[in-house]
Amino acid sequence: MEDETVTPEGLPKRTGNNLDPWYHHYAARAAGLSASEVRALFAVASRPEVVSLAGGMPFVSALPDEFVMGSLERVMRERGPVALQYGSGQGTESIREHILEIMAIEGIEATLDNLVVTTGSQQALDLVAKLFLDPGDVVLAEAPSYVGALGVFRSYEAETVHMAVDEHGLVPAALQETIDRLTAEGRRIKLLYTIPNFQNPSGVTMSAERRAEVLQICRANEILVVEDNPYGLLWFDRPAPDAIRSLDEDGVIYLGSFSKTLAPGFRVGWALAPHAIREKLILANESAILSPSVFSQLVIAEYLEQVDWRTQIDTFRGLYRERKEAMLEALEDHLPELSWTNPNGGFFVWLDLPPELDSKAMLPRAVRELVAYTPGTAFFDDGGGRHNIRLSFCYPTPESIRLGVRRLANVVGGELDLLTTFAGTGSLQFDDRVRRTSTPPSNLA
Ligand SMILES: Cc1ncc(COP(=O)(O)O)c(C=O)c1O
Repeated sequence: MEDETVTPEGLPKRTGNNLDPWYHHYAARAAGLSASEVRALFAVASRPEVVSLAGGMPFVSALPDEFVMGSLERVMRERGPVALQYGSGQGTESIREHILEIMAIEGIEATLDNLVVTTGSQQALDLVAKLFLDPGDVVLAEAPSYVGALGVFRSYEAETVHMAVDEHGLVPAALQETIDRLTAEGRRIKLLYTIPNFQNPSGVTMSAERRAEVLQICRANEILVVEDNPYGLLWFDRPAPDAIRSLDEDGVIYLGSFSKTLAPGFRVGWALAPHAIREKLILANESAILSPSVFSQLVIAEYLEQVDWRTQIDTFRGLYRERKEAMLEALEDHLPELSWTNPNGGFFVWLDLPPELDSKAMLPRAVRELVAYTPGTAFFDDGGGRHNIRLSFCYPTPESIRLGVRRLANVVGGELDLLTTFAGTGSLQFDDRVRRTSTPPSNLA
């Protein structure tokens, strides 16, 4: 009889499954790696006929090409062998000097020494998680929160616990209650992860008073604050309050990035860490990538020296503001019965659907109607967000945004019609409640 444990060549058969012969070999933490909803969407949403209000891609075409090209050429001509070589695990000095200047705009005083350059702020998030999170640890985060951070925390087998947010940002009372509850349950809370400015995905900004209160609570409970701030300089009407890091240099790790104010293709971000932590951060960085790209760092430093980058950021601000206004006007015109946030910067609007609609279930229908969005469920680690969607206004033109919102309104209308048709005939319920834009979405209240 045939031996089923060996291959026809007589080698032992691997014990995985049909799709993946290595299935049983993975480390337990690999179970936390799953394709995010945003990622799965990119394939469909990138078809040219689909208006994508889904991704968070900055509009890099607005950059002055000739200066970017000029910076590339100058770096290669004058410093080619250095640019193409390995570099310091902490990052080049010239870029760190520029980063200090950028962070000073948000009230941060720091030294070069405590700054670590990373491959985008995404990698900085990964390093922080690697340094601080053991399986079962808790990370506190806003409800909703950035999908890429949730994925990182999950991959280190930590649990993210979400806390209520309103139009002034994270609610301090909710933070305190959550800490009390989890502490009573014997849980170990390691980090508070917050995006205080023009938050991804809600667009909400934390007020100055809340920043001080949140910091105070975290200090009292020995919780390290991770302040993730890629959008801070992209404000519309008024600058965001000073960074949380400007209030405390020992209790906050601040993460920044050139991805939104310059271009994500360079993959350069940074972490500003308390002095006691930064050595470990550099070691973790070296262990992960040896050194961040010297080439990218030199080109960015050259660009920042050659270009009036503050004016360039003003250009981005004007562009994104116009797109946000196009989106809010279109929502008011086509979906006036829903509610949404009105961000003062950044890339995103958070929309509250009627409670009987499921944003994830509705997505295939939306894509069929040639509009894509990100379902709210992507931004929760606890199953929340079913009745929300994130709309991004950063990439499509105002005309496309208007077209996309019109298509979205057709989809929402179609779903509600269906529910009305079947109301009372089964388990489907149609709640005819009307909500206005003057109130923030319900799960932000
Ligand atoms: C809140 C937030 N943090 C971090 C990142 C990662 O940015 P990057 O790695 O390009 O710096 C993003 C990207 O969208 C983001 O929205």
